Amino acid sequence: MHKTAIIRCEHFNAAHRLHNAHWSDAKNKEVFGKCNNPNYHGHNYDLEVKVIGHCDPATGYVIDTKILSTLIKKNILDRFDHKNLNLDTEEFRELNPTAENIARVIYDILRKELDQALDLKIKLYETARNYVEYPY
Ligand code: NI
Repeated sequence: MHKTAIIRCEHFNAAHRLHNAHWSDAKNKEVFGKCNNPNYHGHNYDLEVKVIGHCDPATGYVIDTKILSTLIKKNILDRFDHKNLNLDTEEFRELNPTAENIARVIYDILRKELDQALDLKIKLYETARNYVEYPY
């Protein structure tokens, strides 16, 4: 039997600033554009957490969605929702909070919470037109 993927969609709002402290202000502005605004700006992030595995014959579930949604709420939404990622979170104090880096951080956090038999993929939309996938 093939594996099945189950996807939980979540949402959070957060502020950020993309900036490389080793670069001049001009270079930062050139590379990061509006996302370099010194006073930060917000995004409405849409998050898709995909869990892949074999269905448990006893339940018919890959993972109970109640368990998955609680896991995401406790570990991701409570940590990042309505936060300034640069100032309010440990994860992005030094790490540039690009969509790529946010997706990887979310993966690393959730990976530790999930059964090793399950595969995990993260899709993070920064805007309706831009999203990243990790791992790829
Ligand atoms: Ni931005």
